Amino acid sequence: MKYEGIIFDLDGVICHTDYYHYLAWKELADKMGIYFDEEINNRLRGISRMESFEIILERYQGEALSYEDKVKYTEEKNEIYKKLLYKMTPNDVSSDVVETLHALRNLGLKLAIGSSSKNTKLILKQIGLENFFDAISDGNNITKSKPDPEVFQKAAEYLGILPEHCLVVEDAVSGVEAALSGNMDCAGIGEAAKSSRITYRLSKFSDLMDFIQ
Ligand code: BG6
Ligand code: MG
Repeated sequence: MKYEGIIFDLDGVICHTDYYHYLAWKELADKMGIYFDEEINNRLRGISRMESFEIILERYQGEALSYEDKVKYTEEKNEIYKKLLYKMTPNDVSSDVVETLHALRNLGLKLAIGSSSKNTKLILKQIGLENFFDAISDGNNITKSKPDPEVFQKAAEYLGILPEHCLVVEDAVSGVEAALSGNMDCAGIGEAAKSSRITYRLSKFSDLMDFIQ
């Protein structure tokens, strides 16, 4: 086996909360009169909530916002987002993902989540995977978000595996950079599959099975 552990990004890899992020930011941006589209949304993949808002504000033309205003707006976005999350069920994880996760586990690999999201545990609960992973590193245990490698380094540490023995699976360019700068190989799916920096290109989640042995 080439790896001892696999660290999965959550939003856009295990499930499609990335679209719910888009819908929630879109509602807030429309309310604030800011232009926002799916292309701008792609720049928000992997980075923290406040960093995402700063990118959205690049097109803001209203009165200057204080830090407290920004916190209030990001909390408002999160409330819209959480309402969408509460509608999620285990059916929001594809059978391709579920079957592959079990197959990887059966090969003896340790499996972790490495996500910038502070909603990670809520999402995992909604989709019925709250007790599945061997370790969870998320937005609540990091001080720097992707492209900094901290979230993946912590995941490797929680698994008790050296970073160079871990493979990261990502849909975000910021996450690909984070994995590589943390000395980990990276499989890219979705947006990240377009990156020339990835170690493996996945057209579907189960393609992972071809690369890990
Ligand atoms: C990442 C998403 O997983 O989590 C980002 O790709 C998001 O788009 C980040 O900004 C933070 O999420 P949350 O749930 O803490 O607002
Ligand atoms: Mg992602």
